[in-house]
Amino acid sequence: MIKEFMTNDHRECDQLYAPLEEALNGGDFEKALELFIPFKNAMLGHFAMEEEVLFPKMEEFIGGGEGPTYVMKMEHNQIKTIIDQLGEAIEKKDQKKALGLGETCMIMTQQHNMKEEQILYSMAEQLPLEKEKLLEEMKKVWKR
Ligand SMILES: [Fe+2]
Ligand SMILES: [Fe+2]
Repeated sequence: MIKEFMTNDHRECDQLYAPLEEALNGGDFEKALELFIPFKNAMLGHFAMEEEVLFPKMEEFIGGGEGPTYVMKMEHNQIKTIIDQLGEAIEKKDQKKALGLGETCMIMTQQHNMKEEQILYSMAEQLPLEKEKLLEEMKKVWKR
């Protein structure tokens, strides 16, 4: 259930990038900036659901330290840096840079998401978490 919800949210984030890439390819920076906002919000909202709700709950069982949730948080920070750089490149109307950063962002995100979908979310499903409650809490964080 958590796995399904979060996997779907990964797809929704991906889908928000496609029209942004299209606008960048067409050199429409005004539109790109408009489309960048919902993309960024969706990515940050997803990371917040994980960092503020899912990961701390999982860490109660699997421990924190330098374990799997720590690695995921480091990757979030790397992806956030790329997203910020992408926003700057769009503002500067630097098409080549923006497209390159967008591609890097997508590759890093795909690799990250695959690890979560194949390992981390499956692990969450195995843990004795109050899943309904957890989902409600995650949705609240996202809407913020
Ligand atoms: Fe993540
Ligand atoms: Fe995720």
